[in-house]
Amino acid sequence: MTNDVPYDLDMIRLALLTISDKGYQGEREDISGEAIKEIIQPSPFELVYYQVLPDEKELISSTIKNLADEERVDLILTTGGTGLSPRDVTPEATRAVVDKEVPGIAEAMRLESLKITPHAMLSRAVAGIRKKTLIINLPGSPKAVRETLVPILPALPHAIEKLQGDPRECGLG
Ligand code: MTE
Repeated sequence: MTNDVPYDLDMIRLALLTISDKGYQGEREDISGEAIKEIIQPSPFELVYYQVLPDEKELISSTIKNLADEERVDLILTTGGTGLSPRDVTPEATRAVVDKEVPGIAEAMRLESLKITPHAMLSRAVAGIRKKTLIINLPGSPKAVRETLVPILPALPHAIEKLQGDPRECGLG
């Protein structure tokens, strides 16, 4: 164990990526990104990076890669591009750059949302880790963002502590 292992984080550096062709072209306001910013306050989360990207797989992958490897953010939340439309590629772009998937996060999002709408099963969102960064896809509407992000939020600080090297045993407290 080293002294610089940042567990017991008092701040979680968050990057937010809105994936939308229309948003990127300035034809649609980013209300889902705004919903995420509202939901994560007050909290240990600090928004350090925000960008609207088009539904382009390579660009999404390289942005996630850069945020994890160079900027070393703790958490990347994406919104949009998770559905069945021909241009939806966010899950594929994410899967291409994660070291491991964390299926329980996506399962929890769908499990909770299915209590509200059967449409929840249409989001192909994935979650995973790259180095010490947790990456989570959220669907693209403000309603769906609320229904998926609120249930998983309580588990995220602990997930990030473990990812960053917290050696303490879980479930003893
Ligand atoms: N999840 C929740 N919780 N609530 C919703 O209303 N809408 C679904 C699904 N997930 C929805 C949801 C619909 S209609 C679609 S098409 C997919 O999310 C994909 O959304 P996206 O392509 O904007 O990411």
